[in-house]
Amino acid sequence: MKHWEKFLAPYKQTVNELKVKLKGMRGQFELDSTHTPVEFVTGRVKPIASILDKANQKGIPLDKLETEMQDIAGLRIMCQFVEDIYRVVELLRNRNDFEIVEERDYISHEKTSGYRSYHVVIRYPVQTIHGEKKILAEIQIRTLAMNFWATIEHSLNYKYKGAFPEDIRLRLQRAAEAAFRLDEEMSLIRGEIKEAQAFFTRKKEAAQEENS
Ligand code: GTP
Ligand code: MG
Repeated sequence: MKHWEKFLAPYKQTVNELKVKLKGMRGQFELDSTHTPVEFVTGRVKPIASILDKANQKGIPLDKLETEMQDIAGLRIMCQFVEDIYRVVELLRNRNDFEIVEERDYISHEKTSGYRSYHVVIRYPVQTIHGEKKILAEIQIRTLAMNFWATIEHSLNYKYKGAFPEDIRLRLQRAAEAAFRLDEEMSLIRGEIKEAQAFFTRKKEAAQEENS
């Protein structure tokens, strides 16, 4: 157990630091009073049981986890609009505090399950008492609608252990298409929505001025 704790400690550190940094991007957009492409950010370290399951499934030896399992540290950035996803990816590419190892675009190339998201795998330098350690982390960037679908599908996956009955599989694929159409519809009125949101932000700020 102590062994796992030691192994996972730099991953925990990585997730905590990246949460602060990515949430910081949202704060900076708010200060500029412009539409923020970052709606909210979550992060987790993969539970030991899931690490073992995945290593088993993929035939990854436990002494190769560091280099072969890219999502022990996982971050998620949720966006309002599909366009925001690409803005966030661009912001990530321009940062100097980590290196991008791989990008996977499951938006223009959705998975057969119907899954959509943009994945960016990074190598993040974490400072430890034994010196610098580079940790792989996976950042998933998706819209709220993509997140809704993936969350539901994930819980059903858990129930059926990946072997969906045919009717459920089809319904999930149709739901994924519906979620994507919702994203497309929202994109079409994006200007309108952003204007309304900026208006309310300014109103809120003005009210705060008056009260201070
Ligand atoms: P993994 O073995 O899962 O890492 O697959 P991979 O190495 O091909 O990586 P990929 O980028 O495809 O996906 C990794 C992560 O994306 C998963 O751990 C999930 O969080 C998410 N994901 C991928 N496909 C699906 C899917 O069909 N449904 C849901 N709900 N999530 C998915
Ligand atoms: Mg993966």
